[in-house]
Amino acid sequence: MYILGIETSCDETSVSLVKDGKILCNLVRTQDIHAKFGGVVPEIASRQHENHIIYLITKALNDNLIQKKDLDLVSVTYGPGLMGALLVGLNVAKGLSIGLNIPLLCINHLEGHMYANMIDNPNLEFPFLCLLVSGGHTQIWEVGSPGSYTLQSETIDDAAGEAFDKGARILGLKYPGGPEIDRLSKTGNCDKFKFPRPKVKSSKFNFSFSGLKTALLYKHKELNKNNIKYKNEDLAASYQEAIVDTLIDRIIKVSESTQVKTVSIAGGVAANSRFRDKAQNILFKKNINFFFPKMEYCTDNAAMIAYTAYHKSKTCDYSSISTMADPNLSLADV
Ligand code: KG4
Ligand code: ZN
Repeated sequence: MYILGIETSCDETSVSLVKDGKILCNLVRTQDIHAKFGGVVPEIASRQHENHIIYLITKALNDNLIQKKDLDLVSVTYGPGLMGALLVGLNVAKGLSIGLNIPLLCINHLEGHMYANMIDNPNLEFPFLCLLVSGGHTQIWEVGSPGSYTLQSETIDDAAGEAFDKGARILGLKYPGGPEIDRLSKTGNCDKFKFPRPKVKSSKFNFSFSGLKTALLYKHKELNKNNIKYKNEDLAASYQEAIVDTLIDRIIKVSESTQVKTVSIAGGVAANSRFRDKAQNILFKKNINFFFPKMEYCTDNAAMIAYTAYHKSKTCDYSSISTMADPNLSLADV
């Protein structure tokens, strides 16, 4: 069974082909144009998706010697994300579904991130916790069985990816900030500056990153105002350390409270090298089994969409052609 996957929720145009649960290709075109604006410009994102989507679909088919008529199912992200960007992928998918007379399966982007960890760990066993850390989300879900999601923790302000992006902007780094801070921190001293490990009064499980970002802003201003010599690498590494420590702390707290000892980490921030290393040391010692997706499946990609569709197609519960894009789609009602 050949499944075509399409992902256009933000600033990555991506197309994937999956055959019987095996990823044949995962083409990702990142829209670097947004870097000069310091963040994603929605209208430009939509136009870029329009410019690239047909080329990527054609390339995916040609590279794998597959014809359109061989496709059995078309899957696409329908939310959450930018409305205009989502509409490009969704409308192309609907066109293919009608034109080729094949079913359409609309996939929740967050569920796609969650399934990304199963691509290389098909035996990830239920129940598990999923820390979803992307540009727009920082949540810990308890996954009891396929499709059964209970929210255990979330951020009350900025998402972790947002904290990386906003922090990078303060440090004069380009967008997206996560990979930049990650790269710079490798040669920095993470103990050089002390940043708070933010706590939330109302719940020890929740996250808050906006105060941390303000602390970085003040520290940066103070150093520059007083002409104090410092290394941007040290500032980046110290800031990154506070984010990573907070993520690991909440994983441990939620794991202890729910007694769920398996944790899957999903979303763009899962690509952070310090997070991956530190989790290895700390979670391992706490007897928590944890899984990070392969790097290419951390940030937005269509393989996770087609792969989720592969699992969901088993029930033949396909989507209506009138399915609307939903920019605020949640993983489950909370
Ligand atoms: O999942 P994703 O690609 O898109 C959303 O669905 O939001 O996540 C994007 C976020 C951005 O905030 C980006 O800065 C962050 O993931 N990110 C990273 C790294 N790579 C991407 N954050 C920290 N370290 C990284 N290596
Ligand atoms: Zn994402």
